[in-house]
Amino acid sequence: MSDKEFQTNTSEWFYPTEDIIKNAHIPDYDTVYQQAIDDPIGFWGEQAESLEWYQKWDQVLDDSNAPFYKWFIGGKTNIVLNALDRHQKTWRRNKIAIIWEGEDGEKRSFSYWRLNQEVCKFANVLRSMGVRKGDTVTIYMGRTPEIVIAMLACAKVGAIHSVIYGGFSEQAIADRIEDAKSRVLITSDGAWLRGQIVPLKNNVDQAIDRSPIVEHVIVVKRTGQDVTMVQGRDYWYHDLMALPIASTRCETEVMDAEDPLFILYTSGTTGKPKGILHTHGGYQVYTSTTLNWVFDIKDDDRWWCAADPGWITGHSYIVYAPLILGATSIIYEGAPTYPYPDRWWRIVEDYGVTILYTAPTAIRGLMRFGDAWPNRRDLSSLRLLGSVGEPINPEAWKWFYNVIGKGRCPIMDTWWQTETGGFMITPVPSVGLKPGSATRPFPGIVVDVVDEDGNTCAPNEDGKLVIKTPWPSMLRTVWGDDQRYLNQYWAAYKDKGWYLAGDSARKDDDGYIWVIGRIDDVIKVSGYRLGTAEIESGLVSHHAVAEAAVIGVPDEVKGNIIYAYCILVAGQTGSDDLVKALREHIRHEVGPIAMPSKIEFVDKLPKTRSGKIMRRVLKARAMGLPEGDLSTLED
Ligand code: WT7
Repeated sequence: MSDKEFQTNTSEWFYPTEDIIKNAHIPDYDTVYQQAIDDPIGFWGEQAESLEWYQKWDQVLDDSNAPFYKWFIGGKTNIVLNALDRHQKTWRRNKIAIIWEGEDGEKRSFSYWRLNQEVCKFANVLRSMGVRKGDTVTIYMGRTPEIVIAMLACAKVGAIHSVIYGGFSEQAIADRIEDAKSRVLITSDGAWLRGQIVPLKNNVDQAIDRSPIVEHVIVVKRTGQDVTMVQGRDYWYHDLMALPIASTRCETEVMDAEDPLFILYTSGTTGKPKGILHTHGGYQVYTSTTLNWVFDIKDDDRWWCAADPGWITGHSYIVYAPLILGATSIIYEGAPTYPYPDRWWRIVEDYGVTILYTAPTAIRGLMRFGDAWPNRRDLSSLRLLGSVGEPINPEAWKWFYNVIGKGRCPIMDTWWQTETGGFMITPVPSVGLKPGSATRPFPGIVVDVVDEDGNTCAPNEDGKLVIKTPWPSMLRTVWGDDQRYLNQYWAAYKDKGWYLAGDSARKDDDGYIWVIGRIDDVIKVSGYRLGTAEIESGLVSHHAVAEAAVIGVPDEVKGNIIYAYCILVAGQTGSDDLVKALREHIRHEVGPIAMPSKIEFVDKLPKTRSGKIMRRVLKARAMGLPEGDLSTLED
């Protein structure tokens, strides 16, 4: 992917067919956008009306203590009331909620009725273990139906789930358990990935050694290899679900709209991961409205969000929003290329997938294998496509559009973040598209590209992406750290009350937004968000390393790859073996997704006089580019 492409390619348009425009939930974006901006309170109130509430709200938005905004104040609900309970009263109870396929070919599906039963049973298990409203529960599992059941069961009893992505390991898990203070952890013995077993339970055991706060571990049997079960601490999920206590009747806890639903950890500028907090009321309204309008969900759709439930994409658009809308979702456990590079296309064909939502890195990864793999599968069921996670380069966009969508399926390039809860800048199916641009904001959302002083940038000029008004699924705070919430997101434009996204962007002459990338110390690797600081502290925790600096360097498939520069402690010498050992150390401490592609040993690092590592200088050197202004360099 080259940056040049993004700068020049602003004039090529792709328009949806008349048929798509006519049938879209939002056939006229401009009108709806204007209405929402003229009366945001009325607009969000109207969207909330389409959901069920135990008790209606008194006030849509409370901004008296901004930026600690509150939504639907006085409203009583539970996201499970909308995701499961209400469907049991209609024909929808017999509709398929989830179609699951394991990497090993195992298949299972759940109707709304059956899913609800499993959730009720597991909610009773959790209650019997003493889990109550407001408690935190950590979930660390592969992509199986049980992760969905576990998340929903937590929400049903009013517990706050904290899902840790299965690609993280020991120290990363321990840090997150510690920060969330979870007494109960749900995991599985292992997960299948590329024909191999990811040893999830084993990782959990080691993490708990470092973080002994966990009292109970519930283990789902998936891969069947031997695991150590600690007497009195660890329980098999299937044993608990067979107990009389696991009845299919279970009351859903009545929650305030503003009660916490989940914490999801994401990387930021410092090493300590941030627990992004979302709540029941605003989140259910925003995620369901955005999914409905952007991906135009119809009753006969087969929706496939090919992300992991362990990331925000999965929380919002595999678990909560599709269930609220009563949609049928596909979940696939493993790698897109296993056993052959047509696995995904076979899934589209087998299940008649109508909407496929994925990430640029996956598209680029599959594109490498050529057109023959998708071409031998019947992809004619597809009607819409989607992309998320990083900017999509026009070449990948066009391949997705032409080879997968056969030129018929508009691509919804959705820009958003863990913090925003749902799509923020995104097309709807009826608008014109430009490859590489996430187009314009969703109705009700006000975004801008501004300079340091907050002036709107001229068209095609780079600036900072800000969100100027609150929205229902905005993060409420950083778990346990209000100050960090203020500093990170609201301090930059404090007087104006704008949210700083942490991305640079530009707006073109048509008002279309082109997101360029992160401006903080966050790297996107294969769409995964990693903090340089977390990887650096992982490296420094190795006895041979005194100091480390980590940067992201552009890569054709992964978007970015990780380069690490290490200063060794006196007496240590750099060698290929040490490079190997450090990579393994990172796999073990942080996770396989954080492993540096390259590790270089250096005597010193470029720093400012105040001691901050100048990562842009390292990056320029790594890419063979001019190093720019070095006036603040220490020596
Ligand atoms: C960061 C947020 C939102 C779910 C997955 C990522 C980048 C995300 C796009 C897009 C360009 C994008 C941004 C953003 N990003 N979507 N369509 N075009 N960049 O969530 O892990 O919180 O990462 O991902 O840099 O700030 P996340």
